[in-house]
Amino acid sequence: MSVQSLRSLPPAKERLARPSPDFADKLSRTADLLRRIARDFSPAVQASSLGAEDVVLSHLVAELELPIPLFVLQTGALHTETLALLERTQAQAPQGVEVFTPEHSAVLHFVRTQGQDAMYRSLALRKDCCALRKLEPLARALHGRQAWLTGLRREQSGARAVVPLEEVDTAHPGLTKFNPLAEWTWGDIWHYIAIHGVDYNPLHDQFYPSIGCAPCTRAITDGEDFRAGRWWWEDETAKECGLHVKTP
Ligand code: ADX
Ligand code: SF4
Repeated sequence: MSVQSLRSLPPAKERLARPSPDFADKLSRTADLLRRIARDFSPAVQASSLGAEDVVLSHLVAELELPIPLFVLQTGALHTETLALLERTQAQAPQGVEVFTPEHSAVLHFVRTQGQDAMYRSLALRKDCCALRKLEPLARALHGRQAWLTGLRREQSGARAVVPLEEVDTAHPGLTKFNPLAEWTWGDIWHYIAIHGVDYNPLHDQFYPSIGCAPCTRAITDGEDFRAGRWWWEDETAKECGLHVKTP
């Protein structure tokens, strides 16, 4: 799609806001869950990619004045639009934003030995890149916490269709993982953004529903799946970076 035609399309919050009939109930259940997490699972933390779901969750936490700070894994490969939103969020988030970056020497070694485009060459190399840019910093971000919150939703993909609201995090023993927006639809997310004027990543206006690292994310076209723009050269079943993989 040309830049000119993108300019003429309404922004995501106008195109996509479509609340479910039971939106008010959903919102109230989500608020109750967030209050319970803050009460019973302190310290808890929100993992935010600064995508649409995550900005909604952060806004809810701030509105409810709950002591749940957020962290961002700054992989070193995020879009400039995401970095700009990170700066704006840092300036406004009541509890600040913790930014976790990968080990510099590990990234340097990987890029020197495998090249900048290693992720396109094999699934193993792509997973190696995710492991050092995302998983290792995630382990540090979760250290010492009782619970973490994500923006995972059931609608996002077949693999996420059974995402629970609360689960024992088998990959991080001792932690409980909460997915408070699991039942929300994409229309609910944008309805919330529209009515509260929540700041969001402008890439969503350019048909990026799901936003990760720049080399591994593209816009989608009409009729494509929600996550079609993530690791688009890989099989559907491989498309997880490991942040949400369960250990048996
Ligand atoms: S991924 O596994 O494919 O990368 P996705 O982008 O769908 O995940 O995001 C799902 C949830 O994972 C987000 O709502 C957020 O909670 C967490 N997450 C993903 N990327 C990051 C990031 N860079 N920093 C912090 N949390 C993240
Ligand atoms: Fe590396 Fe792509 Fe994974 Fe980001 S999403 S850590 S650039 S392979």
